[in-house]
Amino acid sequence: MEEIRVELGDRSYGIFIGADILGGFGRKLRDFPFSRIAVISNPTVYALYGDAISDSLKGVGREASVIVMPDGEEYKEFLWAYYLYGELLKQKLDRSSAIVALGGGVIGDIAGFVASTYMRGISLVQVPTTLLAQVDSSVGGKTGVNHPLGKNMIGTFYQPRFVWADVDTLRTLPRREFLAGMAEVIKYGVIWDEEFLRFLEEEKGKILDLDAEAVARIIKRSCEIKAEVVSRDERESGVRAILNYGHTVGHALETMTGYTSYLHGEAVAIGMCVEARLSVLTGLMGERDADRVCSLIEAYGLPVEMPSGVNAERILSLMRLDKKAVAGRLKFVLPERIGSVKIREVADTGKISEALGV
Ligand code: NAD
Ligand code: GLY
Repeated sequence: MEEIRVELGDRSYGIFIGADILGGFGRKLRDFPFSRIAVISNPTVYALYGDAISDSLKGVGREASVIVMPDGEEYKEFLWAYYLYGELLKQKLDRSSAIVALGGGVIGDIAGFVASTYMRGISLVQVPTTLLAQVDSSVGGKTGVNHPLGKNMIGTFYQPRFVWADVDTLRTLPRREFLAGMAEVIKYGVIWDEEFLRFLEEEKGKILDLDAEAVARIIKRSCEIKAEVVSRDERESGVRAILNYGHTVGHALETMTGYTSYLHGEAVAIGMCVEARLSVLTGLMGERDADRVCSLIEAYGLPVEMPSGVNAERILSLMRLDKKAVAGRLKFVLPERIGSVKIREVADTGKISEALGV
């Protein structure tokens, strides 16, 4: 098992990554004197891994209550957070209690939001079970829920006490979900680390075959990069915004399609390719690098084009809701070369539409 540290002073924590480590979860949790524990999950994940977590807790003499909510991005919304508050109150969780988020990014985000607001904040532990959650959403403390008018519009910054990522859980993950997670992995190569991007190009076969060593390596390197960025800028007043590469377009596409047509990673994949094209159109990056980005995204079976029939005005107005936008002026994370990005305002909506292909 490897540990990667997120250094945030007295809120620092470890991301523990390993194969077949769910059985050791209870022993780790024993380090913390939580009064009560509630596991929040969905039926899909709980059926697969609920017993492993419960048995591991029982093994150290702890019991957890379980709250299961429906599976799907469309349930990552305030009314379901409200339901979770009610269940926590019924189960008498107090301020010394902890929530264990067992699942992908949807469970991690909503359970994290609830943990940060229930009784003004109780402890949170992340047990991510999708590739996307293991490389991105469980780390760094962004929590939240969607609003019909915008993705992740309500939320908090709230760090977990630790993250427990068992890479073996990815063996039951549907292929489409694994590939969607690869979008965020590719993102780290583009924004930070050219050598990592080359690894993703050269070892595509092994990664797609779920070779244990290759998969563990991509999770570890992704977490190292995210931990470094978050440690420098926890609340996104500067460098952390680079983690949003592909997300200005991606989030707008998710909102526009009601959170049901595209997986988050798929929308980000399209967004990364559009934003690479926009970088070329604004004279920041050469065409060869942009082609390299889009080819790699495609090579991992991810979409690179906006769907047909998208209304240019509608997507532009949704992008103006992006959290990086200031007074409606659009900002994008644009690569200048592989491994380095800049945050740039783009005022020319013609160029944006051209990059979008709408
Ligand atoms: P998800 O949580 O919906 O999980 C995908 C699907 O896989 C679900 O049906 C889930 O039940 C199932 N599943 C989970 N683990 C499984 C397993 N091991 N085996 C079989 N099935 C399994 O989707 P996701 O891609 O993990 O997360 C997407 C969400 O994460 C979005 O809401 C996005 O906004 C958010 N996100 C947050 C951050 C952040 O920093 N907080 C970063 C990136 C993405
Ligand atoms: N996923 C973007 C961030 O954590 O900042």
